[in-house]
Amino acid sequence: MTDITDLLLNRRTVRKYSSEAVGDDLLDVLLKAGCRSSTTGNMQVYSIIVTRDKNRKRELLPLHFNQQMVTEAPVLLTFCADFNRFNRWCILRGAQPGYDNFLSFMTAAIDALLVAQTICIAAEARGLGLCYLGTTTYMAHKIIEVLKLPKGVVPVTTITLGWPAEHPEQIDRLPLEAVVHKEMYSDYTDSDIERFYAEKEERDDSQQFVRENNKTTLAQVFTDIRYKKEDNIYFSKMLLQVLKDQGFMNNI
Ligand SMILES: Cc1cc2nc3c(=O)[nH]c(=O)nc-3n(C[C@H](O)[C@H](O)[C@H](O)COP(=O)(O)O)c2cc1C
Repeated sequence: MTDITDLLLNRRTVRKYSSEAVGDDLLDVLLKAGCRSSTTGNMQVYSIIVTRDKNRKRELLPLHFNQQMVTEAPVLLTFCADFNRFNRWCILRGAQPGYDNFLSFMTAAIDALLVAQTICIAAEARGLGLCYLGTTTYMAHKIIEVLKLPKGVVPVTTITLGWPAEHPEQIDRLPLEAVVHKEMYSDYTDSDIERFYAEKEERDDSQQFVRENNKTTLAQVFTDIRYKKEDNIYFSKMLLQVLKDQGFMNNI
């Protein structure tokens, strides 16, 4: 049996899937394993929306910026921060919920992300491939409409899931010493930054990326093309509005 750490050390995102179905029984095992994740106060303040329907995937496609894996993957899982169900239980039982605030959103979002990542590990252990979609937080307002999410529910991430039809090269990570601090945070000198990012910058694919985008440094590809300030501001405003509309920003 493969050791789980070997599996994790060898993992990579998979964006192309075969047409083979992911069976309901297998998916149920993965979902059950996911729901064994740690959860704040054992409240399970999350929901998972399973999308298999082709038409619904087509509706979601533009909301995920037309990333083809949305329609190509047999299964899409949208993970939601969800206080709706817990609030409803409280109210039915004569308890007054005080979860209409930002802290509660963070609590539920953390719960949802823990479930998501556990399902990812379980799925990869069974040989499935998957890709997270960051577009969920950008387009939460529209995803809420398509998936009919009630007040108290906010989508926080999505994964596309299927049997791999590609085996991409593993991509780089920063050296461990760049991200791990012993006992206390030790802030970086400029030469630490130079050293930690050197390998990433020297890679052929990084240099090609810089050339293709007519930039002079890899960092500029991030700041000027991939994650631009104006986009970040725009989507931040949209997301804050979603939190207000879904009832997480009351009394603050
Ligand atoms: C929150 C989150 C959002 C992501 N969003 C996308 C996405 O929208 N499209 C995509 O192709 N990959 C997406 N990814 C995958 C990352 O690009 C990928 O994990 C990263 O490049 C490292 O590659 P690796 O997972 O193969 O090691 C996302 C990953 C995370 C954790």
